[in-house]
Amino acid sequence: MKQLSDIGLIGLAVMGQNLVLNIESRGFRVSVFNRTSDATDAFVAAHPGKQLAAAHTLADFVQSLARPRRVMLMVKAGAPVDAVIEQLLPLLEADDIVIDGGNSLFTDTERRDALLAARGLHFIGAGVSGGEEGARKGPSIMPGGPASTWQAMRPIFESIAAKVGNDPCVVHIGPGGAGHYVKMIHNGIEYGDMQLICEAYSLFCAAGMSTDEIADVFDTWNEGELQSYLIQITGKALRQRDPETGAPVVDLILDKAGQKGTGQWTLMNAADNAVVVSTINAAVEARVLSSMKAMRVAASAQLQGPDAALKVDRTRLIEQVHDALYASKIVSYAQGLNLMRTMGEKKGWALDLGAIAAIWRGGCIVRARFLNHISAAYRADPQLPHLMLAPFFKDVLNRHQQAWREVVALAVSHGIPVPAFSASLSYYDSLRTARLPANLLQAQRDFFGAHTYERVDKPAGQWFHTPWPEVIG
Ligand code: 6PG
Repeated sequence: MKQLSDIGLIGLAVMGQNLVLNIESRGFRVSVFNRTSDATDAFVAAHPGKQLAAAHTLADFVQSLARPRRVMLMVKAGAPVDAVIEQLLPLLEADDIVIDGGNSLFTDTERRDALLAARGLHFIGAGVSGGEEGARKGPSIMPGGPASTWQAMRPIFESIAAKVGNDPCVVHIGPGGAGHYVKMIHNGIEYGDMQLICEAYSLFCAAGMSTDEIADVFDTWNEGELQSYLIQITGKALRQRDPETGAPVVDLILDKAGQKGTGQWTLMNAADNAVVVSTINAAVEARVLSSMKAMRVAASAQLQGPDAALKVDRTRLIEQVHDALYASKIVSYAQGLNLMRTMGEKKGWALDLGAIAAIWRGGCIVRARFLNHISAAYRADPQLPHLMLAPFFKDVLNRHQQAWREVVALAVSHGIPVPAFSASLSYYDSLRTARLPANLLQAQRDFFGAHTYERVDKPAGQWFHTPWPEVIG
């Protein structure tokens, strides 16, 4: 009798291929299926001697799996996931498990979870982060779905995930769409990190530093408290030369950022929950503004501003930008964590923020040394009201705030856009301002709409209205 596979994977684009190779390398037999059989055959032929089984029809694919069957989808998020599920449904049997490893919208995952559950099947919406390399060598995995299903997938997930020490970078996030939700927040935070790094780069360019000099700064930073995958790849990207011209590749890349939508989803969810994610918001909008290249080029000849050249002491600038980046990054993560906590409570997901920060320490795009401190902060106080008020982070912010505002002031006075640095700083200053001008705002609301207000000298919950003067004309 033919040997049955431990798991099957559908979708052999690069992420899918690498995940298959990762799973197989841990001693599991994997069946593979792709929409085009040529790709399936070519993939299996390219890896002789591996425990792989090619299937040309979904029926054969399903029959090649040991029960309960574990079918992982690595297909494009959106309609393709629904299309594959629809074809799979008549072929699967009770207790089989379908895992979606793509960047699916968490509400789609909830819908699919309900659809499969109604048929006695199980669904896992798993965020998988780490890009192509992570998929092959060990991603960070954020699985959501029933706890029992997690147990069935746990041995495979734990063996293929990245490891930090002995800890696998995977944990059961929560039921339903919780896994894809947390992956969405991961991506929003990723957007924030990337934009903050770009703003640091932009300031160094304005100070006349060469790409190699800037690369040196990122390499040095990667040895310290800013150590992270994104800082590391930034140094490497800046050093890359174009073989044709010998110029730094980054100097030849058009300044129009792309995006697939997970950052925007994060903003929509933040708006739904009235949680401020201003750093991620700035990062998404910076990408949008960057994409308006023709408009920007036209405006650059018409709208005035100061000379952008920074004539400052470079050593000091590098130190200050380091502090501004670190402080802004803390704000960005604090905002993302607040959103996760709010949504987790609303949905009853019981998200463990300390554990989530811990599985982001390896494999994923936002992996960074400082996640150890985030994890520790939530382990020390699971009810932590705000990351910025945790002892470790409070201390960093207090020490870095002066340099941070000097960097933002320098950028503003030279007309250099730093939307994420300044949004983060404004959030910091708003949070530490005991009395904001919202008293006047309440007066305005009461003036034109009799919306009433509370008073500083009366108990909370008592509402007052003033008979404001009439405005003529
Ligand atoms: C990851 C990445 C990955 C991908 C995103 C971002 O965690 O491995 O986040 O999921 O790079 O889709 O893509 P965009 O920048 O195009 O939105």
